[in-house]
Amino acid sequence: MRSILVLNAKGGCGKTTLATNIASFYAMQGLKVTLADFDPQHSSLDWLAARPDGRPLITGLAAAEEALRVGSDCDCLIMDAPAAVHGRGITELVRRAQSVIMPVLPSPIDIRAAAHFIEELLVVGKVSRRETRVAVVANRVRENTLIYQTLERFLKRLDIPLVATLRDTQNYIRAAERGLGIFELAPSLAEPDLQQWKPLTRWLNSKRALPE
Ligand SMILES: Nc1ncnc2c1ncn2[C@@H]1O[C@H](COP(=O)(O)OP(=O)(O)OP(=O)(O)O)[C@@H](O)[C@H]1O
Ligand SMILES: [Mg+2]
Repeated sequence: MRSILVLNAKGGCGKTTLATNIASFYAMQGLKVTLADFDPQHSSLDWLAARPDGRPLITGLAAAEEALRVGSDCDCLIMDAPAAVHGRGITELVRRAQSVIMPVLPSPIDIRAAAHFIEELLVVGKVSRRETRVAVVANRVRENTLIYQTLERFLKRLDIPLVATLRDTQNYIRAAERGLGIFELAPSLAEPDLQQWKPLTRWLNSKRALPE
């Protein structure tokens, strides 16, 4: 079973947006997907509740309250983390994941916080780079990506890729309202976003995203 955790201690950076879209991406490919919501606010589960009948099935799990029991037929477990996880909370979440995706917003404060969080992940979270693969996604990018250069330099030293840049667009909001992912919108509308997701899904489907 494939297991992917979307994680960043910073609130509002796009964890739920990425988790629900990754879940939709794999469900659209015919895989059996479980979306485990570790956030007591249940944003991923709310998204799932809005999902129309007839769409590829995604199973929800209230992982903030219930034990993480995943069916033996599950192909793909996507985990949506809450904000403000630190210390042992990180270790608990990360040990369940083969790959960690970290969305980061394009502000100097968020970028610095992300660098600190990655250090915490590697040191306090005792994330072994061999057992868990980490990638960063620049999210809600409006214009240039120069702002990420410092983060990229920092990530390079740690051999962590900045794997995709996603623009700021109403498409994510429109899709989320309807319990859909951007992969389920009219392609003519979502084309630039589908293109931007390609390096991310390519990474997720590659050996680079899997433990050694
Ligand atoms: N690329 C994007 N373009 C436009 N809006 C976005 C994008 N990514 C996220 N958003 C919006 O930003 C808000 C916060 O995103 P989201 O809920 O995914 O963050 P989060 O990290 O899960 O937040 P929390 O820490 O509260 O769980 C939401 O309203 C979401 O629709
Ligand atoms: Mg969230």
